[in-house]
Amino acid sequence: STTTISLQTSSATSKTINTPNQPTNQPFNPKETAMNCIWPEPVVRVQSLSESGIRKIPDRYVKPPSHRPSLNHNAVVSNIPVIDLAEAFSHDAAVRSETMRRLSSACKDWGFFQVVNHGVDVELMRNIREIWREFFDLPLDSKQQYANDPVSYEGYGSRLGVEKGATLDWSDYFFLHYLPAKLRNPGKWPQFPETCRDLVGEYGKEVSKLGGKLMKIFSSNLGLQEDGLQDAFGGEEFGGCLRVNFYPKCPQPDLTLGLSSHSDPGGMTILLPDENVAGLQVRKAGNWVTVKPVPSAFIINIGDQIQVLSNAIYKSVEHRVIVNSAKDRVSLAFFYNPRGDLLIGPSKELVKPDQPALYPSMTFNEYRLFIRTKGPCGKAQVESIKSSSISSRN
Ligand code: OGA
Ligand code: NI
Repeated sequence: STTTISLQTSSATSKTINTPNQPTNQPFNPKETAMNCIWPEPVVRVQSLSESGIRKIPDRYVKPPSHRPSLNHNAVVSNIPVIDLAEAFSHDAAVRSETMRRLSSACKDWGFFQVVNHGVDVELMRNIREIWREFFDLPLDSKQQYANDPVSYEGYGSRLGVEKGATLDWSDYFFLHYLPAKLRNPGKWPQFPETCRDLVGEYGKEVSKLGGKLMKIFSSNLGLQEDGLQDAFGGEEFGGCLRVNFYPKCPQPDLTLGLSSHSDPGGMTILLPDENVAGLQVRKAGNWVTVKPVPSAFIINIGDQIQVLSNAIYKSVEHRVIVNSAKDRVSLAFFYNPRGDLLIGPSKELVKPDQPALYPSMTFNEYRLFIRTKGPCGKAQVESIKSSSISSRN
């Protein structure tokens, strides 16, 4: 898989010529970043706030009025597209091409869709969600040993971003590295419930496979070689992380968010939502659409790295999570990412005289520092890297 033609091109502002599958000579060095090894404020577990029975949420969770969930969002009745993935592999050519077409417009028009018949065992999906519920149900003490820090983010966390005084989101999470193998450290994964580590291993394998299938579909639909996107991600050495989100019940859900608006910095996200509790909202034409989870489906969304590689033919889309006072919610986000030390820039097949490269090249290790420092900020990051020579030309 290393013999592919370059998928990347250097933009007008980039100083480096890209060589896919060849690491850059600048390994990720957290010491060179402005980031500290500790959180700027004492960590408060949102779950313990919720369980304390408070009637009013602390000020640091109260969002400015323009960011609060609006109460009439259910005026928007549409849902994101639902796609039967088996039909993309149908023996019937007409079914196949119609499904590919629907996938293409889902990626272009929404950046979000649900997939059913995705090949991942439904029982495994149920079990992994259940095991993580059990993890979050453990007493606080048993979870604290996994407390994370803002450099690796790995472990049990309660905030994204290190800006002192930032408004916080109403959620806790567990973050872990699944791929590449050298970053995988099952010793940092929960030891309880007992089957957790095995299930994470099995689940990671299955969703990675699903991600690989989708990468081929996206590549074909973009007019690239079938392995085009995957090769740009580093082939077999792509990255994979799991973020398990826990959104506790909230006494004042109209004042806060479970997760503030953001686009996912990575390649694509494979989300296993809570079967019973809605909460994810997707930005569409200025409105927030609440996703209605289809039983046994995954929610797929395009991340910033595919926006960059596709030269904005596909766009990552802003999304956020609302909470409620009746039920807590668990979701598992599997981030399918490029290998961290490869330069990612617009694919050269997608750069033409009338479609200049919109973004300079950057490694994902460098790119992800933004959200790790500033926290969720809508689409600010991918907008901010837009090639300045392009913007001034336009
Ligand atoms: C995320 C995310 C959505 C959800 O973890 O990046 O957007 O429904 N999660 O929890
Ligand atoms: Ni997200």
